[in-house]
Amino acid sequence: MVIAIDGPAASGKGTLSQRIADAFGLAHLDTGVLYRAVGVSVLRAGGDPADNAAAARAAYALDPDHPILREVELRTDAAAQAASKVAAVPEVRAALLDFQRRFTQHPPGGAPGSVLDGRDIGTVVCPEADAKLFVTASVEVRAERRLKELRNRGIPAIPSDVLEDMKARDARDSQRAVAPLRPAADAFVLDTSALDADEVFARAVAHIGSKTGLRPTA
Ligand code: CDP
Repeated sequence: MVIAIDGPAASGKGTLSQRIADAFGLAHLDTGVLYRAVGVSVLRAGGDPADNAAAARAAYALDPDHPILREVELRTDAAAQAASKVAAVPEVRAALLDFQRRFTQHPPGGAPGSVLDGRDIGTVVCPEADAKLFVTASVEVRAERRLKELRNRGIPAIPSDVLEDMKARDARDSQRAVAPLRPAADAFVLDTSALDADEVFARAVAHIGSKTGLRPTA
C-alpha cells in the first residue's frame, strides 16, 4: 500500500502526510528531507549544490541511518534553496529514487504500507501508488504559512523575501527537466487556500477511502 502526496512548498502536504500516516497506521517518509540533507551536506563540504558531481556524491552517501536526516538545520530556508538545486541533478534523483523505493518495499516498523510526500511521488517514484493527492494553495497563502512557521521556530524572516524565495523555488521545481513538479494525471487535486487543516484531512481521508477501501484506525 502506497499513498503519494505531492505539492509545492508550504502547501500543507507535510502536516497532512504525517496525519494520514498516523490515522491509517502507515510509515511516513518526507522525501523533501532527503533533498535537504543532500543540499546541506554539499554546503558543509564547502561545495556548490548546483555542482553535479558533488551533489551526486552526497546523494549516494545518504542512508536511512545517517544522522544528518534528524538535524534541525534541514528546516532552514538556506537548506530549502540548496535542496531545490541538488534536486535538479539527475544522478541525485536516481540515487534518491532507490532510497525511496526501498522505503516503500520495506516500510520501517513492519508497517503494512507507506505515505510518501514530495514533488514527484505520484509521477515518478510511485506511479502505481494506490491513492495520489496533489496538495496546493496560492503562492501568497503558502508564503504566509511559511512565514508563520519560521517565526514559530524563532527564525527571523522578512515577508517579501519569503514570498520571493517561494516563487524562485516554485519556478525551479516546476521548470526543471527531470521529474518536474506537476500533478499526476490520476491525482486528486486539493486546493487548501481556503481550507483549514481539519477540512484538508477530512477530504484526503474520503479520497483515500474511496480508492483503497482503507478506514482510519486512529
Ligand atoms: O517543506 P517544503 O515543501 O518547503 O520543501 P520540501 O518538501 O522539504 O522540499 C525541498 C526541496 O526538495 C523542493 O523545493 C524540491 O526542489 C526538492 N524535492 C524534490 O525535488 N522532490 C521531492 N520528492 C521532494 C523534494
